[in-house]
Amino acid sequence: MKTIFSGIQPSGQITLGNYIGALKQFVELQNEYNCYFCIVDQHAITVPQERLELRKNIRSLAALYLAVGINPDKATLFIQSEVPAHAQAGWMMQCISYIGELERMTQFKDKSAGKDAVSAALLTYPPLMVADILLYNTDLVPVGEDQKQHLELTRDLAERFNKKYNDIFTIPEVSIPKVGARIMSLQDPTKKMSKSDANNKASIRLLDDLKQIEKKIKSAVTDSEGIVKYDQANKPGVSNLLSIYSIFSGKTISEIESIYEGKGYGDFKSDLAEVVINEIKPIQERYHELMESSELDEILDRGAEKAQVVANKMLKKMENAMGLGRKRN
Ligand code: AQP
Repeated sequence: MKTIFSGIQPSGQITLGNYIGALKQFVELQNEYNCYFCIVDQHAITVPQERLELRKNIRSLAALYLAVGINPDKATLFIQSEVPAHAQAGWMMQCISYIGELERMTQFKDKSAGKDAVSAALLTYPPLMVADILLYNTDLVPVGEDQKQHLELTRDLAERFNKKYNDIFTIPEVSIPKVGARIMSLQDPTKKMSKSDANNKASIRLLDDLKQIEKKIKSAVTDSEGIVKYDQANKPGVSNLLSIYSIFSGKTISEIESIYEGKGYGDFKSDLAEVVINEIKPIQERYHELMESSELDEILDRGAEKAQVVANKMLKKMENAMGLGRKRN
């Protein structure tokens, strides 16, 4: 069985973008791959986090992974900071990265833009992500489109390490969903939907009150044309809603366009809210059950133990290859 690794930051409330770009893919892939799914809390602290809020978000994200359908008997679910090999291997990957290539990362540019001071870790976050992936002999990394550049860096650093030290890393491939790889903000459809967006109306959160979801969809920015048609360049708002509709309904975009031919945006948005809510409602119910149970902590304990065994093995190989410490087998 080939191996998958992917992670999500507990940096806020999980959005429909995270669900479509990441979680939904994970559920489908867990039957065919040996999967490691991670709550990457060390990535979250590259920008300021409130301590208690972070703790809450970590547990909440773990429950959401399970609520959407991740089966802990099939996939290993764990918290990054509970497997110290990640930070150790991340340091080694930083040592083979160049500042120039890290400064070119668009996510670094976006997150540092307009800020007086940013943490050094915001720049060195991608080598930690590289380590996360390479520790598990990962073949495939399912992510949204925004992570594509980090995946290219992962392949470059893996090849650089293999060439310079020892050929120990599998070179991973990236898997990006065909539809919904980049879900856009509901208020500014030229911008990615993000969990850290300060405008609450811009993102649908998986745990939003269902009435609030309906309201957010109904107030999503479209255009004055009144025609339900996919046209990314000229109708980014409608195109974004069409992508979401297609993913949640299983219908193709052209099927949806014909359903709403001659109708305005009102019917389209009402029906979209309905299909989204139908999928999210049972996820929320399962989520609340999990948050109340002790099952969640047991699953995370087991996940960390399993991940540690695999990660520590690769860490030793990396240390031997670089000549760190004393020779161990
Ligand atoms: N808008 C999106 N559309 C599709 N996929 C998305 N992802 C994020 N936003 C979208 C995918 O979700 C996974 C987890 O992302 P992350 O937590 O590592 O951080 P991110 O990519 O920076 O996501 P956010 O929501 O924008 O978080 P913040 O606001 O904290 O930076 C990844 O697979 C990502 O591609």
